[in-house]
Amino acid sequence: MGKSEWAAVDDYIVAELQTEDEAVRAVHAANADAGLPTIDVSAPQGKQLELLAAIAGAGRVLEIGTLGGYSTIWLARGVGPQGSVTTCEVDQHHADVARANLDRAGVGDRVEIRVGPALESLAALESEHAEAFDFVFIDADKVNNGNYLRWALRLGRPGTVVVVDNVVRGGSLADPGKTDDATEGSREVLALIAAEPRLDGTVVQTVGSKGWDGFALARIVR
Ligand code: SAH
Ligand code: DHB
Ligand code: MG
Repeated sequence: MGKSEWAAVDDYIVAELQTEDEAVRAVHAANADAGLPTIDVSAPQGKQLELLAAIAGAGRVLEIGTLGGYSTIWLARGVGPQGSVTTCEVDQHHADVARANLDRAGVGDRVEIRVGPALESLAALESEHAEAFDFVFIDADKVNNGNYLRWALRLGRPGTVVVVDNVVRGGSLADPGKTDDATEGSREVLALIAAEPRLDGTVVQTVGSKGWDGFALARIVR
């Protein structure tokens, strides 16, 4: 078993469950036209984010790393029409493409895109006394994953759910020979979950169209 079989199973899941509708599929085409990298979450992962946000009863979602807004659309669906998603993106071109995609998908009115380095946008949210976020999805520059998880603690509340994408990295997480910044960012996430009494968490390894990777899943317990 390898990558092509994992991708075939993702294709089966998406076809059988009709995971992607026209609005969501259109994002892939628009992103390709605009030259964005194809590093969005997969459709089953996007659906998982929608389900997790809905299961958590989240009304306010914070996302770090928008790209073309593919994951953002799923999160926006998870919070429903009364909810909101604040998503942080450093690249103005990505944010522009995302804005068009979100509007076309009919969820634009519940999404705010904050353009700039996420660490600055997060500090701004705190100084604006933003209401606590119920759900945080971290998927930007991996070197800052530890910093983003610390920000989630500041901007969340007891019960807030935090998901961090790409922490397994084809097994690099557990390979002592891999010391690149992104892998160290993953390790910092796990070390913080272990050390911080306010966080409870695990890692869910996955295979699929994006290869071998996984979400860290954490909860602010107090
Ligand atoms: N969540 C998206 C994919 C995000 S890809 C999806 O699944 O559809 C990562 C994004 O993070 C890119 O658009 C990149 O420009 C952005 N990014 C990288 N460094 C950043 C930073 N310091 N602050 C905010 N965004 C950043
Ligand atoms: C990359 C980034 C991601 O967030 C992802 O899910 C896959 C790949 C990347 O930068 O290569
Ligand atoms: Mg990712």
